[in-house]
Amino acid sequence: MTGATSYVLHRTLKTTLPKIERGEGNYLIDTDGNRYLDACGGAAVSCLGHSNARVIKAVTDQINRVAFAHTGFFTNIPAEDLAEYLVTHAPQGTGKGRAMFLGSGSEAMEAALKLARQTHLERGQPNRARIIARTSSYHGNTLGALATGGHAGRRAPFDPLLIKVDHIDPCYAYRFRHAGESEEDFGLRMANQLEERIEALGPETVAAFVAEPVVGATLGTQPAARGYFRCIREICDTHGVLLIADEVMSGMGRTGSLFALEQEGIHADITTCAKGLGAGYQPIASVIAAQSVCDAIESGSGRLWNGHTYMSHAVACAGALAVLKVVEEDNLLENVRAMGNLLHMRLRDRFGDHPNVGDIRGRGLFQSLELVENRGTKSPFPAAKGLAPKLQRKALDVGLMCYPSQGCADGTNGDHVLLAPAYTTTPEEIALIVDRLSQALDAALVA
Ligand SMILES: Cc1ncc(COP(=O)(O)O)c(C=O)c1O
Repeated sequence: MTGATSYVLHRTLKTTLPKIERGEGNYLIDTDGNRYLDACGGAAVSCLGHSNARVIKAVTDQINRVAFAHTGFFTNIPAEDLAEYLVTHAPQGTGKGRAMFLGSGSEAMEAALKLARQTHLERGQPNRARIIARTSSYHGNTLGALATGGHAGRRAPFDPLLIKVDHIDPCYAYRFRHAGESEEDFGLRMANQLEERIEALGPETVAAFVAEPVVGATLGTQPAARGYFRCIREICDTHGVLLIADEVMSGMGRTGSLFALEQEGIHADITTCAKGLGAGYQPIASVIAAQSVCDAIESGSGRLWNGHTYMSHAVACAGALAVLKVVEEDNLLENVRAMGNLLHMRLRDRFGDHPNVGDIRGRGLFQSLELVENRGTKSPFPAAKGLAPKLQRKALDVGLMCYPSQGCADGTNGDHVLLAPAYTTTPEEIALIVDRLSQALDAALVA
């Protein structure tokens, strides 16, 4: 409950939230017995549903052994094993890298930015301090991560507190690709914005370029055009700029490969992962540093200039390792690809001719609808209509959790709805998701 009956400082103080009592497979059940089919994993988190016995056992076993041993004194077995798993499964080019573990995606992004800065200092390039990212991106809510994100609406209230970050346009085909332009030409044109910006700023001042391989919350599961990220990699290498891949939402299998960048054929210098890593059983995020970054530190100061009390927490790492083992042992990436294709097809069948669905896009079990007032002109609904929040409420009314957001068109206007079902999802659940989403959208459009 919220309002006078609750002492929790909720995200909204003006409505009453259902109280969740338990999870059962891909459903959450509230204290009134209502069942919600979780089609978005909250925010692309719960990739194994809500009652995975193997993950729960791994977490409780670890608590029974030891929960916490400060990393200033010790390492622990789950952190070592998890780091080895992630580094050895990371995209080719990562080399003999290393990983650190933190509590949230935002913390991981802060650590990634600092790691990029440290790398340049270790290499004797102290002028490299500028960050370039993209508009309509989200990299977290702490101040450095928020400054890096390019979502105008989320940044606005805190603007006076934010460090200066440069933003280029995202590789967002629905709104940026010219009529008649090939996918490759579009990708090249958008990637070249990075080179132009680096040259304008002075390459010797630029530390890192930050991008989500598939943009999640702010654009609605937007993959880049073919060739875009290869070109980005080349530009970064040419100018000595580090590439930071924010895979907080798109990584850990969500798009059908363990790392989203695998499908682009490149590696990042620094990669962040979170959400699907702990699958919601534990709050955990990772920062993976490629070998070149680790080499700079090892041959320099030899110390990581960043520490947090709970980093590499043994229980969190044990939970994440169990999640990755379930994904591997149950061959779930194959299910992500198969069910992702099915979900995309079913969305096209149901919404392909819908007058208010402008685009249907995504990769793997990471799919979205972009909602527009007019398909011909692509004009969005005004933000004041509040379509996204209405859709979220109407979906809950029909027992569906989906993840609608606002601002995709210009940072303020433009609604989309993101779907990110569990990797264990079935064709029957996909059919139910599409049916319920259709009912909820009809209701939200007239509300
Ligand atoms: C791409 C991306 N980066 C970073 C974050 C921040 O993660 P957290 O909310 O765990 O701090 C998010 C959260 O939605 C995200 O989607």
